[in-house]
Amino acid sequence: MVGRLAGKVALVVGAGSIGPGWGNGKACAVLFAREGAKIFAVDINLDAAEETKSIIEAEGGVCSTYQADVVKSLDVADMVSACVAEYGGIDVLHNNVGGSAPGGVVDMSEEVWDGNINLNLKSAFLCCKYAVPPMLSGGGGAIVNISSVAGMRYMGRDMIAYHAAKGGLIELSRAIALKYAAQGLRVNTVCPGLMNTPMVTSRIAFQYGDGDGEKMVADRNAMCPSGKMGDAWDVAYASLYLASDEARYVNGTELVVDGGLTAKCI
Ligand SMILES: NC(=O)c1ccc[n+]([C@@H]2O[C@H](COP(=O)([O-])OP(=O)(O)OC[C@H]3O[C@@H](n4cnc5c(N)ncnc54)[C@H](O)[C@@H]3O)[C@@H](O)[C@H]2O)c1
Repeated sequence: MVGRLAGKVALVVGAGSIGPGWGNGKACAVLFAREGAKIFAVDINLDAAEETKSIIEAEGGVCSTYQADVVKSLDVADMVSACVAEYGGIDVLHNNVGGSAPGGVVDMSEEVWDGNINLNLKSAFLCCKYAVPPMLSGGGGAIVNISSVAGMRYMGRDMIAYHAAKGGLIELSRAIALKYAAQGLRVNTVCPGLMNTPMVTSRIAFQYGDGDGEKMVADRNAMCPSGKMGDAWDVAYASLYLASDEARYVNGTELVVDGGLTAKCI
């Protein structure tokens, strides 16, 4: 089925990938473009956004790139203005920026806490704050926020700020959804489980292990009910559904994409 986002403008924030391969935002941007959306691909790493753009354009899609650090208010305000100037409005906002930091409640420093809350929660707050007005002016649209099952459950590793931020992101999404439901705006959250994105070997293996990427992949696979992590395309297809008009009566809720992980009691 092609054209599920035909005629839409999608602002994808965190549209690159931390390493070679498919990160969640990169796969979402490419899938949204395959389904007919014009993509405004934003990343703090412009090269990463450019790579996404080159994939989209090679497939015949439309994409522009923009560099922004979305924990900074001025960057986000300018980003939204640039998207509206380029494409005339915003129909879909996809907030994908985030990542965990190791540490429990006693040993995490205040600086790490602030940084991780900003990365995972303030980023989405700012993107919604500035993108909602033009979305409402255009008759509404769909916001898809990428949380995590860590926003719903303790995952066995100390990453206290990430748990708090991703849980906060779920409630942020619900509150915005209810405030604007009558004006045609829908806000939903995707909660991925353990996904095999480049972040696992590029960052997680060093933060939570001894740097052995293969071992980290094997450990994470073993935690999953099917014996295998999901990947960025699982997040992208869930996001596509929520972004599309097929989900027109789906609002203020969470779509858990975890292969059954959170259904497990041990
Ligand atoms: N991979 C998983 O297992 C998993 C599981 C649950 C949730 N998630 C969530 O999915 C999202 C993406 O994860 P990923 O694995 O694709 O990671 P990733 O690091 O590959 O992708 C994140 C992208 O955001 C960009 N970015 C980082 N900080 C930014 C900033 N301040 N401003 C603008 N762009 C910035 C990065 O450059 C990168 O391209 C995150 O929110 C993460 O918490 C991932």
